Amino acid sequence: MPSLAINIDRLLKDIDALAEFTTGEGAGVTRVTFSKEDRAARAYLRQQMESAGLAVSEIPPGIMLGRLAPAGSSDPPVMSGSHIDSVVSGGRFDGIVGVVGALEVARTISENRVLLRSPYEVVIYPEEEGTRFGAVLTGSKAWSAQLSAQQLSSMRDSDGVSYLDAMTAYGLKADDLERHMFRRGRAKTLLELHIEQSVVLEQERIQIGVVTAIIGIRGFDVTVSGVANHAGATPMPLRRDALAGAAEIMLELERITRTLGAHTVCTVGQIACSPGARNVIPGEVRLSVDFRDIEKLDERWKRVLPCIDEVAGRRGLVASISPKASTEPVALSATVQDLVEQVARHRGLSTMRMPSGAVHDAQVLAPLVETGMIFVPSRGGRSHCPEEYTEPAQIEQGTNVLLDAVMALAA
Ligand code: GLV
Ligand code: MN
Ligand code: MN
Repeated sequence: MPSLAINIDRLLKDIDALAEFTTGEGAGVTRVTFSKEDRAARAYLRQQMESAGLAVSEIPPGIMLGRLAPAGSSDPPVMSGSHIDSVVSGGRFDGIVGVVGALEVARTISENRVLLRSPYEVVIYPEEEGTRFGAVLTGSKAWSAQLSAQQLSSMRDSDGVSYLDAMTAYGLKADDLERHMFRRGRAKTLLELHIEQSVVLEQERIQIGVVTAIIGIRGFDVTVSGVANHAGATPMPLRRDALAGAAEIMLELERITRTLGAHTVCTVGQIACSPGARNVIPGEVRLSVDFRDIEKLDERWKRVLPCIDEVAGRRGLVASISPKASTEPVALSATVQDLVEQVARHRGLSTMRMPSGAVHDAQVLAPLVETGMIFVPSRGGRSHCPEEYTEPAQIEQGTNVLLDAVMALAA
């Protein structure tokens, strides 16, 4: 039988505490990168990590680290963590379970005076959701030099503040980006605990998901241009209604995507209609398109793409497509998958191997370090909404699996 166990009550207190750091607008949690709520969440986590004996640091592009190292060891650490930013009106578990799970593992190791051979490091990423600066996985991409300082200076929030300026105002220097860059060899292994955000584990009554691969994204903005005109005086055959065209494009994107792979998904999540008046035919509409797949991502997007021009052309509209953030799908380490499965089974927990349809910072770093992920069930598969929920017992199981895996990797 495994001898150590995490303290779920302590971990649940962390979840409750972090959920308080929200703008308070609307239901659920809204906490964006480098905001005052983010600052408060970081201060709380710093205090928790320091009390557990971790050496805490914050480095550009806003990564927070808590390190537990055997005296004199400069070996690459086993790392675990996730993100603390949220979507607008999101849940209290997305990202947070991986952050407080990694913290709780550190506390358990520390208070039991477990002697690790490799250091253990908690990692907290900024801007995973892209809520403030518009692109998912920005923190991990900038940390691993997949986004340059120049790109960070051109990513702006809705008030026109750049990522770089917000980061500098937070107290981190752009000049230090290079020095702290995550390079191959920086870590021994990376493990992320996360809620599943779908229904598979719940429906299959499985306790632990062993993640095999993480989906990739092609993101686009589509601007549909028509002619703004009088809503009463313009007969139906003479209209060039950008919104009606955008609606047909959305339905076509959905219809074609359904004919592709089992993991192919396409979402229009934002729509801006101009001029946006009851009595004016819409002249211009901008849609965000988030197209994802585990495999054949570009090949399948090319099957979907022609419908945009086809619909626009048929309706006398013009569509222009501009690429937004793009992320590659990745396969996770088979060795780490085997280990997670083995430690979960040793605790008598049921497991299944599964891909992730959500993106995670782990996939950005996976080409540079052996990487794995552990999923725990999400009630009703709900996520990115206030209804997001995972049972305490399920979080406890996942965190104990993380503890065992970290101890095996760092021993
Ligand atoms: C983030 O959670 C995403 O998958 O977009
Ligand atoms: Mn998310
Ligand atoms: Mn997440």
